[in-house]
Amino acid sequence: MRVVRALVRSVPAAYRHATRRHDQPIDSDRATAQHVAYQAALRSAGFAVEALAGDESLPDGIFVEDTAVIVGERVMMTRSALPGRALERPPIAAALSARGLEVLHMTAGVCDGGDVLLVGGRLFAGISERTDAAGIAALAPLGLPITAIDVPAGVLHLKCVCSPLGDDAILLAEGTLDPAIFRGLQVHAVPFAEQWAANVVALGSRVVMGAGYPVAADRVSRAGYDPILVEVSEIEAGDGSMTCLSLRW
Ligand code: GLY
Repeated sequence: MRVVRALVRSVPAAYRHATRRHDQPIDSDRATAQHVAYQAALRSAGFAVEALAGDESLPDGIFVEDTAVIVGERVMMTRSALPGRALERPPIAAALSARGLEVLHMTAGVCDGGDVLLVGGRLFAGISERTDAAGIAALAPLGLPITAIDVPAGVLHLKCVCSPLGDDAILLAEGTLDPAIFRGLQVHAVPFAEQWAANVVALGSRVVMGAGYPVAADRVSRAGYDPILVEVSEIEAGDGSMTCLSLRW
């Protein structure tokens, strides 16, 4: 069976200063424990997990998914709309190169990996506060067809409201995007009130998802998947969720 790898970056104490759009305090110690539990959940789902050390100069550094888009053995390092977050990219590029990936660098536009969803041999890319049309065009060397989607107002990233469930299905928060965008894929819905639960990491039938969303977990289970629930209150407090904590290939 093919090994699917996941790269994460540990939580620095500085995570309590993470970029966020509210005043909710963050408990970095609790975030550390939740991040360790997240890694365990990924392992339980079947991923081979490696953790890079956190960096006290990079409060948002745990959100490694934003730094890159991986397709097969090729990775496009993205360009951040936030000058502080740009500094997260070089160590991730070095780590991915050291693990044998071909590393390309975006030279125009801005893009966060949280806006880019790979499913069924296609990329769906959200136009958001963090990703623009030039950034999406710069994903072309990854060699897949790209569908651009306007991310709903007030939503940080495309994958805040939808994420892949394997290679032929999507989990989507009701009332956020037109399901017809994902024509040809199965679309499973979570309630709007539980939209954080639309962001999951799936491998085979196993689905790593946030705890505290009972309707969503029940629907995922009824759709034939096996939810693995992780408490991530402090990750959500930093405007993060399941996919943004890892790069997977
Ligand atoms: N804290 C994640 C972000 O806003 O980029």
